[in-house]
Amino acid sequence: MEAKTATEPLLPVANPRRASNGATLKKVKTTCIWTPPLALFAAFVIYETFNYSSSGYSNDFQNQILTLEVQANDSGRLIPETLFGIFFEEINHAGAGGLWAELISNRGFEAGGKNTPSDIDPWYAKGDENDVILSTEPTSLFKRNPIALRISTLCGSNSKPCPADGVGVVNPGYWGINVRVGKFYTVTFWLRSDTSVNLLVKFISEDETRTLGHQILQVDKVNSSTWHKYTLRLEAKDTDHRGKLAFTTTNQGSIWLDQVSAFPEETYKGHGFRAELAQMLEDLKPAFIRFPGGCYVEGVRLENAWRWRDTVGPWEERPGHLNDVWNYWSDDGLGYYEFLQLTEDLGAAPVWVFNNGISHEYSVNPRLIQPWVKDVLDGIEFARAPKSTQWGALRAAMGHPDPFPLYHIAIGNEDCWKPWYQENYMAFYSAIKAAYPDIKLISNCDATNGPLSHPADFYDFHIYTNAYNLYSMAHQFDQKSRVDRPKVFVSEYAVTGGDAGTGSLLAAVAEAAFMIGLEINSDVVEMASYAPLFVHANDRRWNPDAIVFNSWQQYGTPSYWVQQLFKHSSGARLLPFSLVLPWGSNPVMSVLRRHDEHLNADFLVIKAVNFGNDVVPMRITFDGLAAEGIDYANSTMATLTSAWTMDENSFAQPTKITPQISQMAKPTSDLQVVLPAHSVVALDLRLGDKQPKGLGSSSHI
Ligand code: AHR
Repeated sequence: MEAKTATEPLLPVANPRRASNGATLKKVKTTCIWTPPLALFAAFVIYETFNYSSSGYSNDFQNQILTLEVQANDSGRLIPETLFGIFFEEINHAGAGGLWAELISNRGFEAGGKNTPSDIDPWYAKGDENDVILSTEPTSLFKRNPIALRISTLCGSNSKPCPADGVGVVNPGYWGINVRVGKFYTVTFWLRSDTSVNLLVKFISEDETRTLGHQILQVDKVNSSTWHKYTLRLEAKDTDHRGKLAFTTTNQGSIWLDQVSAFPEETYKGHGFRAELAQMLEDLKPAFIRFPGGCYVEGVRLENAWRWRDTVGPWEERPGHLNDVWNYWSDDGLGYYEFLQLTEDLGAAPVWVFNNGISHEYSVNPRLIQPWVKDVLDGIEFARAPKSTQWGALRAAMGHPDPFPLYHIAIGNEDCWKPWYQENYMAFYSAIKAAYPDIKLISNCDATNGPLSHPADFYDFHIYTNAYNLYSMAHQFDQKSRVDRPKVFVSEYAVTGGDAGTGSLLAAVAEAAFMIGLEINSDVVEMASYAPLFVHANDRRWNPDAIVFNSWQQYGTPSYWVQQLFKHSSGARLLPFSLVLPWGSNPVMSVLRRHDEHLNADFLVIKAVNFGNDVVPMRITFDGLAAEGIDYANSTMATLTSAWTMDENSFAQPTKITPQISQMAKPTSDLQVVLPAHSVVALDLRLGDKQPKGLGSSSHI
């Protein structure tokens, strides 16, 4: 039985003994949470069976007890399997120097532009300019990334020998290369030479005093006057988390270098993702991945927008592009194919945001939009079509003969009010629906306050605000029309500004309340993702973010851990409950029933957010559950809190604020728990074997 139909808003009823019509003491079966206005009518209840004074709570407080009654035998309402996913944007070096495990920054020497001389930063010369000269030339083997590096070694003659450790060129990676003893690295590069040289390819320490691993390449003049690809396997014999890659020689002459890549041999599922960061994503069990941005998709200038077709095919041939919104170069090693692969590896559904001919500064006129429409259809063909098609064949050649299940696509990002968006929207919508009627399309226009002027399956909703606002927005969708609107995709949300610090507890607690509101309203909000996901600590372009990393470390902010606390929501069943609230307390809560396929067991998941300054004792009763209904020995309680609201995690204290998991003890009477001030509490209660199973599902799409 569904708790409510789609046409019937789920009105919050906090106290069933004083339901909103004020007239009945009958228990009201609805999925509900408490709202601030109704708090005025809250009962000031006294449960004498509790005595919290022995737990250290003040006498003033001891009788103010929140009571939650769970309708445990109700089948509830299915939460969409898509509800909680992640949003990956190439921002803060999330991909380049982050999730994408490429260790070389500006690997093709293209970041400085196509004109020569070009800036090759962060590459630099090893040796002084009397011994070695680095210059750029448009002589690459690859047409779309024409720049190559020429290394002219002036020393090396009998009269002018080179320094013993050679001269050449160094790349420091993205604020250091994580070289770890005993690990293997694949170093690939293209080279040509006008002379026979001994080339030392080596990882060196940050201070350049230690060689961490190396190989000597003997380059023969005859064979190397044209471009050759070299692949070396380097074993690290020493460790430096901020290492560098160097090419050095003591032989006079010129060599040309291009498309230099280095990867750790171990990557997530062997697909090129930095293992520790991808694992943090896996731990969230994301239902979907929205990619590749954000503003990144748009570009400040249209010429710098992300274009799927420039990011597929052999990596050496990808032109790369300037990420002019977030101000750094992307070599597009993490391209459209790799994003699709990531979704598959994480068991998540892909949500592609494409550029719709709009950048921050420019919009394509509707009369000229058809090539853009064709471009998007080709992109869908790349993901979805059989390998017998043109773009399906490229996907197969890249290693994935089977189509990817691309069923969600966003027409642009934050563009609704930009010139021509709504006119061009229909061109994309009609063409995509005609070719792929099963693809759900996401509009940038907000349908919160009224129907859209165009058809859409979803509308995109973004919210960045302070902690109190976001906490209050747990009710944002309570009154939303259920009848005449597209579903909601809250594809970007977070607490920002002063409340957020660089990832505070306060922000995380508010976000948890907002997410509970999304669960409660998941009949209309079918997808949601926190933003942004990643930040490289050396290039913080947006603050805060869920995962902070550098070349070798990573930690989750409290917001990340809140996301983990919601990892069981997608596909679970939302159960009705009722609350009796003590005066002044206003926690936000939800109750779900989930099925764990691995254990073949059902769990009740009770989440409560206490945004207030006071501890809130809570008593929980279960309507319709047998006495032995809960297997407490296999049940846990997770509490996320800290001493101060502005506390954060850091590289020094990466787990200062994480959910503290305790095993539950069987209560002698009713279950009692405590909600600390500023906390998120999540109970995961395993139902006993005698309870009916399988009412909820834990599988993803
Ligand atoms: O998440 C950061 C940015 O915020 C995104 O790029 C954009 O969509 C939003 O304005």
